[in-house]
Amino acid sequence: MSEPMTKLTEKIESLKKARDAVILAHNYQRGEVQDIADYVGDSLGLARTATELECEWIVFCGVDFMAESAAVLNPDKVVVLPERDAECPMAMMATAEQVRAAKQKLEDCAVVAYVNTLAEVKAEADICCTSANSIQVVNSLDHDEVLFVPDRNLALWTQRHTKKHIIPWNGYCPTHHQIMLADVLFAKQEHPDALVMVHPECRPEVCDVADVVTSTSGMIRYAEQSEAREFIVGTEVGLLHGLKKRCPQKRFYPASEYAVCPNMKMTTLESIIRALESGEHRIKVEKSVQKGARRALERMLEL
Ligand code: 13P
Ligand code: SF4
Repeated sequence: MSEPMTKLTEKIESLKKARDAVILAHNYQRGEVQDIADYVGDSLGLARTATELECEWIVFCGVDFMAESAAVLNPDKVVVLPERDAECPMAMMATAEQVRAAKQKLEDCAVVAYVNTLAEVKAEADICCTSANSIQVVNSLDHDEVLFVPDRNLALWTQRHTKKHIIPWNGYCPTHHQIMLADVLFAKQEHPDALVMVHPECRPEVCDVADVVTSTSGMIRYAEQSEAREFIVGTEVGLLHGLKKRCPQKRFYPASEYAVCPNMKMTTLESIIRALESGEHRIKVEKSVQKGARRALERMLEL
């Protein structure tokens, strides 16, 4: 039988002290993981936080590319991903070799790598972006043409807000891509007073009917500041935990109950304890990749 929750959280607290560790968790993590984390946020917020920490260990409760970015930005810290198989399938849709081949074919074109990429792909890019800053990043470039890797939907959404010409890669997030327009329209019928918030990884026709298209933490801020009392949420369902916690007096409905990222749900309190005890799975980034990936990430963080 699994240990009671309080026992697990006490164990995590004492291991954290022993290791001088900080726990970072993405907004899609299981509720109990978000609750014991030192910082919870979106990709941009967590990348930024990772550069400001004074600790020896970072336990990253999220998926591989997020822990990799933390390792790239903190070469002297031990960065641990509690579940080795917690990968982002979208990040797997672009390899460094493919990006290099595309760059050779395109002349005078900048490369923007969404943070949902492996470090080796970031190293091929001029700059990184997240869902919270893609427009600002693209507009900051001197080039008029931009290869945008790997999320096609985020590329198309960014294209709507810039004069630059964006060439989208053909990747997508399986979790967001399966949120259909019909799902949102049905939810709107069920909850006619609710505002619709969606993530830009959603299909263009889903973004079209949204009141706001923004990152995960962007949705939390929007719900906090809005006078509306009900919201339809077009993203991974884990965000509802943070939304309900931050706005207990408001109501949130998932656009699709099936919008679950199985990789984000792998991490449990037990796996965090295992990670703190054993140091598994330590994220190491090859030196040859580290430098280029760091340059692309830091250029984004400087903006
Ligand atoms: P955010 O940067 O908005 O948190 O999104 C990360 C992600 O993986 C979305 O699927
Ligand atoms: Fe990757 Fe999508 Fe999961 Fe985000 S929700 S980690 S983009 S698969």
